[in-house]
Amino acid sequence: MEKFRESPLEISREEFRKTGYQLIDSVSDYLDSINSLRVTLGETPVELQKVIGNSSFPDEGSSAQEILSRASGLLLRHSLLNGHPRFMGYITGSPSPIGALADLLATAVNPNVGANILSPIATEIEKQTIRWLAELIGVSPAYGGLLVSGGNMANFTAFLAARTAKAPASIREDGISNSTQKLVVYCPVTTHIWIEKAAVLFGLGSKAIRWIQTDSDNIMDNKALEQTIQSDLKNGFMPLLVVGTAGDVSTGVVDNLAGIAVICKKYDLWFHVDGAYGLPAIIIPELKPLFNGIADADSIALDPHKWLYSPLEAGCTLVKDPGHLVGTYSFHPAYYNFDTADGVQNYYEYGLQNSRGFRALKVWLTLQQAGRRGYEKMIGEDIRLSKLLFEKAKEHPELEAMTQNLSITTFRYVPLNYDKDNDQKEAYLNKLNELLVNELQQGGELFLSNAVINGRYCLRACIVNFRTSEKDIEDIVEIIVREGRKIHNRIRESGKL
Ligand SMILES: Cc1ncc(COP(=O)(O)O)c(C=O)c1O
Repeated sequence: MEKFRESPLEISREEFRKTGYQLIDSVSDYLDSINSLRVTLGETPVELQKVIGNSSFPDEGSSAQEILSRASGLLLRHSLLNGHPRFMGYITGSPSPIGALADLLATAVNPNVGANILSPIATEIEKQTIRWLAELIGVSPAYGGLLVSGGNMANFTAFLAARTAKAPASIREDGISNSTQKLVVYCPVTTHIWIEKAAVLFGLGSKAIRWIQTDSDNIMDNKALEQTIQSDLKNGFMPLLVVGTAGDVSTGVVDNLAGIAVICKKYDLWFHVDGAYGLPAIIIPELKPLFNGIADADSIALDPHKWLYSPLEAGCTLVKDPGHLVGTYSFHPAYYNFDTADGVQNYYEYGLQNSRGFRALKVWLTLQQAGRRGYEKMIGEDIRLSKLLFEKAKEHPELEAMTQNLSITTFRYVPLNYDKDNDQKEAYLNKLNELLVNELQQGGELFLSNAVINGRYCLRACIVNFRTSEKDIEDIVEIIVREGRKIHNRIRESGKL
């Protein structure tokens, strides 16, 4: 009698071992040589389409070994490498190698972490991960939450919980369009664009966002915040929540969280902290006071795939009273036979997803491999290197240092002997630096992104990368100046911007 059904997707033990070992060999070689590779080959979509070919969906299947070895060749040769020591663009952490192994294990077992009964041990591991994240940032371990795909989702998950908690209860059934209350939310002008998506998604509309100005240090002006709340109350609006940022996306500034907490208490508003990027820096003892007030947050967004070096995707929502998550996301259709007794946690009741993968495993293992000391060391070094870059930019006659906060440095290229009285100076420098960012991003020697600060187009280096070294910082300064000169000379010679 046949023992197993024949299936085109089954892989024998021997084949799995052989194919798996080959893949592990390739990935080990890649990780070992990452420092000597280019960050990107800068290939165009058309070039890459040629590489993968344009064959139709195949009628017949192929051998696992063959297709996996081709896929590893494609990915290892043609990717932009955010684990490269000179990747400092946007905010994606260099991924922990243990996270890659964790994903293999997680997907081999494939627990559905939507319901406890479908993922008994995985649910407990995610619960422990959430507790450790709360401990890491120094808030009460009574905060509850869940892992989500990233910062946008972490903020959305909290935003809707805030709406449930603070808006009239009738909205849940009658919808926002039948409410007489005009709900409004408050955030600094530096807030990441997730807030607009959330306002649209959850029915408030983007006009419900009150963008509060920042002071000369880029910190939300809490006086202006309070005045705006008062004026809204006078005009019949219903204030709902205030967002404070713990590390803004452009310059890494942390708002005065303690001040926001006081205002939220006074007006009975939900206090949400977007710490997707910057909050892990609280682990550095000297920086802890910068985050005072975090323990008063009703909800917090924190991304392990940014400064906790987990591979994508891993965001986290923490809520002081997790009952607000359950009150928002828990429904009980007849086709769910899920135990909801005390102490049994079903993650579908905590967020927007129903079926959920086991993203907690890579975070859990990464947290354990590094430990508190490991994070203090890595995050501390990232900050030190970011400051070093700022100092080098300050010293260099062709660079203008702009800002330095947490591990984000912004600066720009300014040619020597540049006609400073020229009316067009700022417009020219903006264009020159925009061209420079584009050129550097394609060049493959390093990868930076940009920020616009007081109308000035700047280069922005965000170091959330445990591989970056002092030598990288020295080298990138030289590369940037060399490329800046080239572009400036090219423009001068051609007479065209
Ligand atoms: C402060 C902040 N919030 C939210 C996000 C969005 O995160 P994600 O890209 O993971 O959705 C970012 C991304 O850089 C961020 O810096």
